[in-house]
Amino acid sequence: MGKSYPAVSEEYQKAVEKCKRKLRGLIAEKHCAPIILRLAWHSAGTFDVKTKTGGPFGTIRHPAELAHEANNGLDIAVRLLEPIKEQFPILSYADFYQLAGVVAVEVTGGPEIPFHPGRPDKHEPPPEGRLPNATKGSDHLRDVFGHMGLSDKDIVALSGGHTLGRCHKERSGFEGPWTTNPLIFDNSYFKELLSGEKEGLLQLPSDKALLEDPVFRPLVEKYAADEDAFFADYAEAHLKLSELGFADVE
Ligand code: HEM
Repeated sequence: MGKSYPAVSEEYQKAVEKCKRKLRGLIAEKHCAPIILRLAWHSAGTFDVKTKTGGPFGTIRHPAELAHEANNGLDIAVRLLEPIKEQFPILSYADFYQLAGVVAVEVTGGPEIPFHPGRPDKHEPPPEGRLPNATKGSDHLRDVFGHMGLSDKDIVALSGGHTLGRCHKERSGFEGPWTTNPLIFDNSYFKELLSGEKEGLLQLPSDKALLEDPVFRPLVEKYAADEDAFFADYAEAHLKLSELGFADVE
């Protein structure tokens, strides 16, 4: 889909740049890149391409959306970010959370993802149930990401986001990290996925589904063998994710 980005004022653009620096500092200090990336993804991943509802429009901070089961724990991310947001009242929450997601990937060593400002804040939270369920397989992943308007390649590349962070029993029922370096964004998620289950590391059923599917598996193998290819496809997919329903021209 083509994009036509809105023009923002010089003051707004300056706030984006300054906020980016503040976010780098916060994420480095608090080691919170993983939960910030999860916040940005859960904020955007509710987009429904048919009805054009949901998506990265700042609604995730509202108690009704934070209360969705898939968002357990994300109130922590909202709270961590609030002192920075307060310094930039001009920015929409929609832009602010997506900027934070881009910075989380960048400061942990991941690819640079272009950022275009101008998302408006919306008020209506999406219905519950649009985010993926970790106990399900490829059909479910295609169904959920298909509703967002994302492709098979996007699914595998974005799953590489699990190079960061871990599962928390009290939040999702699962426990443990996917890699031995959960604060570094690299292609180790794919390497670990291919090398099988290991003491101390975790693979969700939805991660393992990538190994069994004839379209997904070759991409897992490609990204495990070639980090540059992963970074290029990840950056493209993350950009799409962060702009679902934003600046589209039909
Ligand atoms: C493909 C479908 C996906 C499923 C089923 C899934 C499921 C999960 C689950 C169950 C957790 C654990 C939450 C917790 O207990 O704290 C988690 C964490 C996480 N997810 Fe995903 N996820 C998916 C896709 C993604 C995508 C597309 C991204 C980003 C591009 C992402 C980024 C993360 C990150 C960074 C964490 C770690 C959070 C932390 O350490 O606090 N996930 N995911």
